[in-house]
Amino acid sequence: MKIFNTKKDITNCLLEYKTKKQPIGFVPTMGALHQGHLSLIKEAKAENEVVVVSIFVNPTQFDNSSDLEKYPKTLEKDIELLKSINCDFLFAPTVDEIYAENIISESFNFDGLEHQMEGEFRTGHFNGVGTIVKALFQIIMPNNAYFGEKDFQQLQIVKKMTEQQKLPVVVKGCEIYREKDGLAMSSRNVRLTKEHRKAAPFIYKTLLQVQTLFTQKSILEINSWVKKEFEKQPLLKLEYFCIANTQTLQAATNKKQDTEYRAFMAVFAGEIRLIDNIKLENCN
Ligand code: PAF
Repeated sequence: MKIFNTKKDITNCLLEYKTKKQPIGFVPTMGALHQGHLSLIKEAKAENEVVVVSIFVNPTQFDNSSDLEKYPKTLEKDIELLKSINCDFLFAPTVDEIYAENIISESFNFDGLEHQMEGEFRTGHFNGVGTIVKALFQIIMPNNAYFGEKDFQQLQIVKKMTEQQKLPVVVKGCEIYREKDGLAMSSRNVRLTKEHRKAAPFIYKTLLQVQTLFTQKSILEINSWVKKEFEKQPLLKLEYFCIANTQTLQAATNKKQDTEYRAFMAVFAGEIRLIDNIKLENCN
């Protein structure tokens, strides 16, 4: 695997594939790689001539400086993992290389996708994500880019940004990769205490129950049921739960015909904020 730290070097290396019109797959990450990332890379490898992974802990998408400082950084281990699955290229730039002296985000309008859920609770987060993903797409110029559905709102926003900026990249969403006990894989999971790690699978367990309840109960009934279930969990604090329209990401209060819904939640397990979501079957 070749490792690049500058835009110039990775661009030069990819020129050969661009000239031959060979497809380039891209998996952007912030490192602390886990099986979920590896599943995205494997999917990218199956569909492209070469795969580029980026590792860059993007400062502009953190609304909290302590969260940025504590974000797990495991570059050596990540490199070994990437080599073990024959990743072709790693792009690991410094903050200076990407932002020079100006560590600020561009301001985007994602047609309202950015205001609810993560957008409501993490000010400026999606401007930061839009800024870095746009910059990385312009450097790598991939044909296909792969994102996990755990960050479903991010996935929809990246699709919107790509369309608005007319970037010739196909953005692909990949299914959530879970631990055996159902906890969605996340780089943040390694920061959970033993007790919080044990409590955390309750998130997915609740989402599975919501999936069943969605066929029987109203959205308002489900919302209050979820709230009550979390009140019984001393180690978990529900930040938000909502059932939203998959396209607009607007929270729904009643089920409409021919509309797809997903249930979303963010939960604090001690200091660690975990998010998860699940697709719902609309029987209307
Ligand atoms: O999902 C992530 O890891 C990040 O938000 C991303 C897409 C790599 C942008 O920094």
